[in-house]
Amino acid sequence: MEVIICENSKKAARLTAKMIANAINEKPNLVLGLATGATMEPVYAELVQMNCSGKVDFKDVTTFNLDEYVGLGPNNKNSYRYYMDSNLFDKINIKKENTHLPNGLALDYNEEADKYEFMINNAGGIDLQLLGIGNDGHIGFNEPMSSFASKTRVKVLTPETYEQNCIYFNPPESMPKLAFTMGVGTILNSKQIVMLITGKKKANIATQAIEGPLTSMVTGSAIQLHQNVTVILDEDAASNLKMKDYYNFAFKNNPKWQRYQ
Ligand code: GLP
Repeated sequence: MEVIICENSKKAARLTAKMIANAINEKPNLVLGLATGATMEPVYAELVQMNCSGKVDFKDVTTFNLDEYVGLGPNNKNSYRYYMDSNLFDKINIKKENTHLPNGLALDYNEEADKYEFMINNAGGIDLQLLGIGNDGHIGFNEPMSSFASKTRVKVLTPETYEQNCIYFNPPESMPKLAFTMGVGTILNSKQIVMLITGKKKANIATQAIEGPLTSMVTGSAIQLHQNVTVILDEDAASNLKMKDYYNFAFKNNPKWQRYQ
């Protein structure tokens, strides 16, 4: 795992966007795994700008999002499909038919989950998966105790997640209690992972995910099992990390990061 600590959240988002853009420039038909949440909004704003100024081309890119609320369709402003369309897909030159999220309106949960896994495999697997982390340590909606081998399925959200996300719903109680999510195993199958964590509120959970112990109580800690992970944080989110000095030293001295300095 490589850990990069940026001065502030804007720089962290910019670096994340640059890594995604570089991956697309190296492989124009990249299969990109995407995440939602407030943390990702500045990343998508950067990618929109880069696309408009010709620095990255989404024409041949395929995307798969981590998760979607059960019961919410694309026109619902709280659906992740709506979030993705309005923050990214409607503003870049991606082909809509190449963008995928689980169908929140599917009635047969198992069938939809299996179909999603099939589509990911059929596309050749995910090349780069972007991840955030929830306050309870979840990646996607893999709540505590999700198996590290889990595949796409429906999960019941924890009260903590409910509290974190219900602020976006009107009334808050209208937030669904179930969501489709890629499994931890699905995420670990991707070829590369880039996780972005920003803000003081995430400092404790960031430390648990990055520096361990490895536990399904913090599904974000599963990234320690992956061989190609970069975690990008701002100073606030990195404030409790024990090995901070080493991460900064490694970032400065590893030639592979030179183009990002
Ligand atoms: C939701 C998503 C996660 C995301 C998390 C963090 O729960 N399912 O994929 O990482 O939100 O959200 P925020 O960036 O708003 O803190």
